[in-house]
Amino acid sequence: MINRPRLTVIGTGYLGATHAICMAVMGFDVIGVDVDPVKIEKLNSGEVPFFEPGLPELLTKALDSGRLRFTTDFAEAGAFGDVHFICVGTPQQRDSPAADLTYVDAAVTALAAHLTRRVLVVGKSTVPVGTAARLADLIRELAPAGDQVELAWNPEFLREGFAVDDTMKPDRMVFGVTSAWAEEQLRAAFEPVLDQGVPVKVTDLQTAELVKVAANSFLATKISYINAMAEICEVTGADVHDLAEALAYDERIGGKFLRPGLGFGGGCLPKDIRAFTHRAEELGVGQAVGFLREIDGINRRRRARTVDLVVELCDGDVAGKKVAALGAAFKPNSDDIRDAPALDVAATLAGMGAEVVVYDPAAMDNARRQFPHLGYGENALDAAQDADVVVLLTEWTEFREIDPAAMGAVTSQRRIVDGRHALDAGAWRDAGWEYRALGRP
Ligand code: UDX
Repeated sequence: MINRPRLTVIGTGYLGATHAICMAVMGFDVIGVDVDPVKIEKLNSGEVPFFEPGLPELLTKALDSGRLRFTTDFAEAGAFGDVHFICVGTPQQRDSPAADLTYVDAAVTALAAHLTRRVLVVGKSTVPVGTAARLADLIRELAPAGDQVELAWNPEFLREGFAVDDTMKPDRMVFGVTSAWAEEQLRAAFEPVLDQGVPVKVTDLQTAELVKVAANSFLATKISYINAMAEICEVTGADVHDLAEALAYDERIGGKFLRPGLGFGGGCLPKDIRAFTHRAEELGVGQAVGFLREIDGINRRRRARTVDLVVELCDGDVAGKKVAALGAAFKPNSDDIRDAPALDVAATLAGMGAEVVVYDPAAMDNARRQFPHLGYGENALDAAQDADVVVLLTEWTEFREIDPAAMGAVTSQRRIVDGRHALDAGAWRDAGWEYRALGRP
């Protein structure tokens, strides 16, 4: 295609902001749209409203190129775009495991009113299977251009912390379409990505919706599988760390997402497996993914068991004990604390009467806002000052590099729970620490 389509990106959270910025850097004219004027103002002034390595530099580059701007005005976006990407969130509903589709419906409704010519709307949000077909009907009904407007589904697999790479050079692209024209538009919109040889799988809408939840369910299952093995190791004296390494040599199994520890959190895996289970039940095939409840259960037990280890190290009672909690983000290289195992453990210990002091390299502001009753340190050593026990909850590189002797010099007791299997157990024990990790003797 000679003329590059003009793009809009509706929703400027992790997914949308990254997508808008990367597409502009790759040479497209892009408008990012959000209902939150504060976010829009920040982005227009060159500030990324969340922590993502490499993204601030690319935002500056994209804004300087003149190809990217952000607005709250759907009319402007509707008039501008040839291809419109829907990138709003689908969090878990407050009182149900189901996904909350309020934002998707609102975004599509607001956009459709301004679609007066043949354009493509592309869903990227993670949605329950069947949503795309419903949205396609809604668009046809609401858009002045009626059935000239088509809907496609293009699930997004980006990982926080690697969002730029995952957007610029993904492992694969999935195009859920209902016409050859829609596929052509998508190929044009991703030309620079596809030119690098990234494989494309073209499917129908419902398969594209399912690929995303199937992938995340598989990853969650892999993590909970090794954590289930950790539970067995705990009662047999076996070492899950060695077990996982031995499994990983089998190419059919592979070592990725087989790291035992405190388990998964974040804005995707936990809510996606719950929403998937709920949707399957609605469809009358709940049994097919009944095991995902077990996956969720194993994952929750890891948090409880980590708390137990801390309590054990404190001779059975943490009340009045000082606990240094290293990590708050749901994983390293992120400031995201959504369903963060780290803060769950920290808050539970505080609830049991411990004096918990948290330190995280990036997530301090978010953590303070949501857990104002916890203590916060200036750095890892500061958090560990006079601690009765240290618990590592997010495996940031700077925590891996802590010198056990230096930390031992500031704590009151040399006791550590390595919730992420991130430390060299031998080195810590040699420095006089009582070292404990889930599934390790
Ligand atoms: C995930 C998917 O990887 C991504 O493809 C999808 O688009 C969104 O959800 P993300 O939420 O950014 O991405 O995090 P991910 O890197 O997948 O980690 C999820 C959680 O699993 C983290 O809490 C991490 O600490 C945990 N994890 C990961 C483990 O406990 N063990 C592992 O071996 C791997």
